[in-house]
This record gives sequence, C-alpha cells and structure tokens, in this order.
Amino acid sequence: ASTVPTLWGIPLKYLSLVTLAVQNSLLTLIMHYSRVSTPPSRAYSPATAVLMNEILKGSISFIIAFSRIDLPPPEVAGQTTTLMSRIKRLAGDIFSQDCWKLSIPAILYVIQNNLQFVAVSNLQAATFQVSYQMKILTTAGFSVLLLRKKLTSPQWVALLFLAIGVGVVQIQAGAVRVVQDGVVQDDTHTMNAMKGFIAVATACLTSGLAGVYFEMVLKNTQTDLWVRNVQLSLFSLLPALAPVFYLYASDPQDGWIPTLFRNFGGWAWGTVSVQVFGGLLTALVIKYSDNILKGFATSLSIVISFLASVALFDFQITFTFIIGSFIVLVATWLYNHQPKRPESISWALGWP
Ligand code: C5P
Repeated sequence: ASTVPTLWGIPLKYLSLVTLAVQNSLLTLIMHYSRVSTPPSRAYSPATAVLMNEILKGSISFIIAFSRIDLPPPEVAGQTTTLMSRIKRLAGDIFSQDCWKLSIPAILYVIQNNLQFVAVSNLQAATFQVSYQMKILTTAGFSVLLLRKKLTSPQWVALLFLAIGVGVVQIQAGAVRVVQDGVVQDDTHTMNAMKGFIAVATACLTSGLAGVYFEMVLKNTQTDLWVRNVQLSLFSLLPALAPVFYLYASDPQDGWIPTLFRNFGGWAWGTVSVQVFGGLLTALVIKYSDNILKGFATSLSIVISFLASVALFDFQITFTFIIGSFIVLVATWLYNHQPKRPESISWALGWP
C-alpha cells in the first residue's frame, strides 16, 4: 500500500475515481445528444464509433506500454537497448501465453459498447442513466462469484440503497433536464423503449462480468496494466470489425472510408474521445481500487453533477433530490463502515 503511485501528490486511486465520476456524466449527455439530435438519415454509425474507440485506446495504451518497458542495462543483457529490442520485448509481453484471457472481457465490452448506443438511442438520457446503475448490483454479484469478495449483510443492503438512491436522484435530474434542454426532447428520432431496456439490461450484465473478469486477470498476474489494455483492444478488433463489415456490405457503393465515416461529425468524435478517456480511466480505477468502488464513484457523480447544475444553470433543488442524495450518502457510509475487515475499503470517504 505504501507504493501507491501519485500524480501531483494526489494518489492515483482518488484522482482516477473523481475523474471517472465527471467523465461518466459527460459521456451519457454527449452520446445521447449525438444520437438523437439528428434525424436517422443523418445519423453516424455506432459500429464505426466502437471501432475507433478500440483503435485509439489500443494505440494510446501501446505508447504508454512502450514507454514503460524496463529492459535490463546493456552490460547485463550483453547488448545495446535498441529500438528493435524494445519492440521485441513489448511484442513478447503482448503476445504472451496467457493473452487469450483478455478475449473474454474484450468480446463482452464490444457487445456492451454497441448495446450502449442502442440503449441511449431508444431511451431518454435520464432513464438510461437510472437503468444503467443496475450494473452496481451485477458488479457486486460477479465480484462475489469470481473474485470471492466477501460482502457483509450491511454492505449488500448498502448496495441496494445505492441503486435506489441513484434512481431517485436521477428521476429528479431527468425531470429538470427535460424542461431545460428542449433540443434533446424535441427530436423526431423515434425511440423504442422495450428495445432500449433490453439493451441496457444486457449491458449491465456484460459490464459487471467484463469488469470483474478484467480485475481478476489484472490482479492475479504480474503483467503491466497497459500491456493488458493493448491485449484487450487487440481482441476487441475482431468483434468490433464484424458490424463494420456488415455496414459496408449493406451499402457498398461509396467505398470503405466514406461509408464508415458518413455523418461522422464533431459530436461523434466528441463521443468517441470521451469514451476513449473513460476506457483508460476505467482501467486505472480497476487497478488501483476495484469495480464495486467504481460504482460508488459514478453514483456520487450524479449528485455532484446535479449540484453543479444548480450552481451553473440555476436549477432548483427539490425534496426528491435531497432524499435521493441522502440515500446515496448513507449507502456509501454503510458500505464503508465496517470495523476490522482487512479487505474493507475504507479510504473512500476517509473513514475508519
Ligand atoms: O460502464 P463500465 O464501467 O462497465 O464501462 C467500462 C468501459 O470501459 C467500457 O466502454 C470498456 O470498453 C472500457 N474499458 C476499457 N479498458 C479496460 C476496461 C474497460 O476500455 N481495461
């Protein structure tokens, strides 16, 4: 615990959780807006967005992994540390014997990232956010099953409260947003709520399973996080390419690039950028804390972003919001307040 890395003196653990909280709120809004603000005939392809996300994340991770290779000094290795030897070393790490393990979360994340677009295009932004919080429960379930995490009864109750509290805050936040943001509501894009709910429920399952599986691989082996990220992106390429091929095959007259990037404007690139940033942050959060705490951080972000809206846009704080936030805070306290458990994660609010 004494070797926890820091940035500007702040432990990465805290920094990554807080940043992820902000990123989460931003992503839902920008993604929803990018999908529903244009008529379907001028919509961009989610398949291209998912593919771009993986390519960019993989490339950034590769560069970081490359910069982190520690080769033995030349006198020990008996050779000079050339560019080639560094590349060889990294390639060896990436195509290691156990790299196949990343194929499982990779496929699950690609499915999830595609489903997220389906859900967000068929549900209101707030409804989507509420339903997507159910991943808190699926994550806890898979953490217990796969990581053998032991949760006490109060912790299970805390998780349930968290999900309820988030729902209450969200319903409130959504109601305000509907009034404020007429553009989002006035679109002519037709939504299919049933399709949206099935998509979001499945995404909650894949989110929990993929996140916990990634955590298991990361924490049970020595391999560097960034090498694991490159492996994840490489295994994602195949499933991410499949819908792209389908897209091209169904409308091949314009060539590859124009077909894939049709209507791929600023909002689409904005969505991809926030997603890439979020993916890299998620990896850091999973490494330096865990998936369950990730759920708490993102749920607290809902309270924070609503308070920011009050300050910036003159939103009214209502009774429902206060109740919802209170439940979230009590749940966070309840989850962290358990004496004498070595695996208790008490740093979240700095309480013993
Ligand atoms: O909402 P949830 O936390 O399940 O979303 C995880 C997101 O982070 C997914 O979009 C996934 O592709 C991304 N991710 C990543 N690299 C990791 C872990 C997750 O890009 N190592």
